[in-house]
Amino acid sequence: MPNHPDVMDKLVSLCKRRGFVFQSSEIYGGTGSVWDYGPLGVELKRNLQDRWWQAMVRQRDDIEGLDSAILMHPRVWEASGHVGGFVDPLVDCRNCKKRFRADDPKIRGTPGTPDAQCPACGVKGTLSEPRLFNLMFKTFMGPVEDSASIIYLRPETAQGTYVNFLNVQQSTRQRIPFGIAQIGKAFRNEITPGNFIFRTREFEQMEMQFFVEPGTDMKWFEYWKEERMKWHRGLGLDENRLQFHQHGKDELAHYARAAFDVQFDFGGSLGFQEIEGIHNRGDFDLSRHQQFSGKKLEYFDHAANRRYLPYVVETAVGPNRTLLAVLVNGYREEAVEGETEGRTVLGLHPALAPVKSGVFPLVKKDGMPEMAQRIADDLRAAFPVFYDDSGAIGRRYRRQDEVGTPFCITVDGESAGDNTVTVRERDSLKQERVTTGQLATYIGERIAA
Ligand code: GAP
Repeated sequence: MPNHPDVMDKLVSLCKRRGFVFQSSEIYGGTGSVWDYGPLGVELKRNLQDRWWQAMVRQRDDIEGLDSAILMHPRVWEASGHVGGFVDPLVDCRNCKKRFRADDPKIRGTPGTPDAQCPACGVKGTLSEPRLFNLMFKTFMGPVEDSASIIYLRPETAQGTYVNFLNVQQSTRQRIPFGIAQIGKAFRNEITPGNFIFRTREFEQMEMQFFVEPGTDMKWFEYWKEERMKWHRGLGLDENRLQFHQHGKDELAHYARAAFDVQFDFGGSLGFQEIEGIHNRGDFDLSRHQQFSGKKLEYFDHAANRRYLPYVVETAVGPNRTLLAVLVNGYREEAVEGETEGRTVLGLHPALAPVKSGVFPLVKKDGMPEMAQRIADDLRAAFPVFYDDSGAIGRRYRRQDEVGTPFCITVDGESAGDNTVTVRERDSLKQERVTTGQLATYIGERIAA
C-alpha cells in the first residue's frame, strides 16, 4: 500500500494565500469547522458540481434534477430515523468542561467510573457517563420559540428527494428504473470535525436516489458502484489512491441493506477515508414516509398493472470532501531543470482548474501588454483566464502552476508580426507556438478532455 505524504498543512496555507478556502468569520477568531470558499475555491467547487450534474443529470435520460429546501417538516426527520437514531454517545469532563465521543480511543478507563481519565486535562474520575447527542442542528420556525415550532437544518439532501418522489415521477412521467439527483447544503453538528474541509458542520452533498423494482436492487447497486468509481477516476484521482470499502454488518446505517464507500487516500495519518457512499436503502425511506405522512407513495407499473414501493440505490458524495481529495491528489513540489528555485504545482484536471489559462506579455512595452489584454478579453468569453503583467515571467508561471492553471500564453517580440504566441503546458512544461486565432480551440479541446 503506497504511503502518501501528509500535505494537509501546506495545502491549508496555499488555500488561504491563493484564495481557495478561508476560515469562516476569521476576523472574529473563526467559527468551528466552517469554511468559506474564495475566488478560486468557488470556481473549483462549481466545476466539480457541474461535472457531477453533467454526468448524472444532463447526459442521461433516466435521471431528473431537483432542488429541495433545506427546511422541511419536522416529521420528515422522525420518519427518516434521524430524530431517534442520528446520535453519537458523548461524555463531558466536569473538570475542564471538554466534551468527547464516548468511544474516543484517547479515553483511558470507563467513562462514569472513578478510573476514567480525561484525555484533555488528565484528571481521573471527572468524565460523565455517556449521553446521546443528536447531530442535527435545531432551530425555531416563526416568532415563538417553543417545542411546537422546532425545525431542523437538514443533515442530508436525500429526504427532500424521497418526499418529492411522486411529484417528480408524475410530472416527468418517468418509468422505473429512474433517478432523482440534487446538489445542496447539509448541516451536521459533528462532534469530531476537522482535517480542514474534510469533516465540517456545514457542507454540501451531491446525492442521487435511483428508484428500482424490488429484486433488481443488487444489480443496480453493482452498476452504480462501478459508475461512481469511474467518475472519481475521471477527475484525475490517482488509481492507487482510490478503493472501495464494504460496510460490515456493524457499520451499516439503519436504512442500508448493503453499502460501499469510495475511499481516497488522503496521505499521512488520515490515510484512506470515505469520499462517497453507495447504499442500497431498500424501501426503508419510502415506506417510512408513507407510514408517517399517511400518503401512499407507491409507483404504478402500467405494463404489469401493479403497484409497489420501489427500492432505492443511493449515491452520496460531498463536493467539499472531493475538492480536498482533488487538491491533495494534485499537490506536488518539484525541482525545475536549470533553475535554482523549484516550483509548487497543483496538477488539477484541466476541466476542474479554476483558471484555464494565464495570459502574459513577455515585457511591458512594444505593444505586448495591449495584445495580451486583447487575447485575454477574447478568451474570457470561452473560459476563465487571468491576465498578469507583474514581475519576471518565471514568477508569473510559478503563480499559475501553484493554482493549477493548465496553460500559460505569452505574447513576445514575434507575436505582433506573425500573430503567434507561445502556449506553455503546466505539467510537461512544453511550449508550442500557436496562432492567436486558434487559441480558443487549442485550449478548449484540451480542457474538455
Ligand atoms: N444520504 C446518505 C448520506 O448522507 P453520508 O455517508 O453520511 O451519506 C455522504 O454522506 C457524503 O457526504 C460523504 O461521503 C461525504 O463526502 C459527505 N459528508 C458527510 N458528512 C460530511 C461532513 N461533516 N463534512 C463534509 N462532508 C461530509
